[in-house]
Amino acid sequence: MVITHSQYQDMPPAVQESVLNVVGGYPLSGQVRVSGAKNSALVLMAASLLCPQELCLRNVPNLADVERMAEIIRSLGASVVKADDSLLLNASNIGQSSAPYDLVSQLRASFFAIGPIVARLGEAKMPLPGGCAIGARPVDLHVRGLRALGADVQIDHGIVHAYVRGQQKRLTGARIYLDCPSVGATETLMMAATLAEGETIIENAAQEPEVVDLANFCCSMGAKIRGAGTKTIVISGVRELHATDYGIVPDRIEAGTFLVAGAITHSSDFTLTPVVPAHLTAVMTKLRSVGAEVSIEAPNTMRVVSSRPLTAVDIETLPFPGFPTDMQAQFMALLTLSEGNSVITETVFENRLRHVAELNRMGADIRVKGNIAVVRGVPFLSGAPVLATDLRASAALVIAGLAAQGTTQIRGLHHLDRGYEKLEDKLRNLGACIERANIDVEPDGIASSASLTNSPLDQPAPLKP
Ligand code: UD1
Repeated sequence: MVITHSQYQDMPPAVQESVLNVVGGYPLSGQVRVSGAKNSALVLMAASLLCPQELCLRNVPNLADVERMAEIIRSLGASVVKADDSLLLNASNIGQSSAPYDLVSQLRASFFAIGPIVARLGEAKMPLPGGCAIGARPVDLHVRGLRALGADVQIDHGIVHAYVRGQQKRLTGARIYLDCPSVGATETLMMAATLAEGETIIENAAQEPEVVDLANFCCSMGAKIRGAGTKTIVISGVRELHATDYGIVPDRIEAGTFLVAGAITHSSDFTLTPVVPAHLTAVMTKLRSVGAEVSIEAPNTMRVVSSRPLTAVDIETLPFPGFPTDMQAQFMALLTLSEGNSVITETVFENRLRHVAELNRMGADIRVKGNIAVVRGVPFLSGAPVLATDLRASAALVIAGLAAQGTTQIRGLHHLDRGYEKLEDKLRNLGACIERANIDVEPDGIASSASLTNSPLDQPAPLKP
């Protein structure tokens, strides 16, 4: 088809999009600083709504998701002031107004704020968050648990409205059994129960380190919580919480992502700090099975040394202390280059294998049936233009790019920016060849071919030792 001059003028102009260009084959060495945990930061910000006094959160990662959570909290009447990696939060004057759906739909964790608000004010409204790229992600366990604590909960026109009858407007402690150990439901109900009258017991609770961090944070504000980190959490309600100054735990998923980056690249040797090695037991065990050398150098420092050959290993994602679903995509990238067949079973989310198609574009050999992926190891990956489909998938593509021959160009960086603070700076400091660039994208979403080949990193990758 020939496009006439006037048709050409009518076409909408190309827009610019940020991409990451990664040239594979560079060894990583040095030390990387791990940021505060994204998933802790988000829920601790929600928990700040429980307290009528000013709080300080430290070690807060600088991420798009944290910005969004701050907007949600502000929309409810609280103030959030950022200073370096700290947040000053003041929820002395919050209201029951519903947070905007646009924000809640972009950030599922913002729904968790329903627990603190109903606990503190006796009434809360939150839009249903809806599904997301990795699954339907219902909130039925949150709703059932709030009902068990004495709230009336109605869902009308997409808004969840929870309120407590009676003069006191106070939730009442209850024994709650969760059908599955949902992280979010455990957190919502733990927060709600801190101000309830009497004792709450959450059975089959999630045991993730972020749940423990939330419990520690709430206890530092005067809450009475026992058993966080086990399957049974007991919360004795108190009347009011008080000010605190609290540092968020290191991000185990960011740390795990770097460990995999160390394992997949040739001749790499670097340390990560701060980390809590106990949070990474499953990841460390599987990395060692694949053939990487992973060691604990100090109580808060780990070291990864790459080693060859990499061998296939099977993985099944499970709630903590099992292998984390948030590390599945990154590990799949590693297994594409491991000798033999690996079977990856995703049991936590129903739609979390969309990165397979992108890894296959880079030369991987992965087949999917339902929630199972069979990865047949290949001798090498080759750089290609790829699209990130969700947060951890984008990290997997970066990892694959670090090991691939030639340049990998990754689009869809809004996913990456949700959860990784300065990933490319940290990798570059370790010696990776990675750079963010702007490309022209046609209105149909296709990157113009000129922008794909005009990489500022157009240089040969080093020879493999
Ligand atoms: C949290 C993490 C996410 C991680 C996940 C599992 C945050 C902000 N996000 O998400 O990074 O991947 O834990 O470790 O902390 N479910 C229900 N009903 C519910 C709630 C959950 O059926 O009411 C199901 C979900 O659909 C999913 C499973 O339970 O299949 C686990 O989800 P959950 O542990 O709740 O994950 P999130 O808290 O959303």
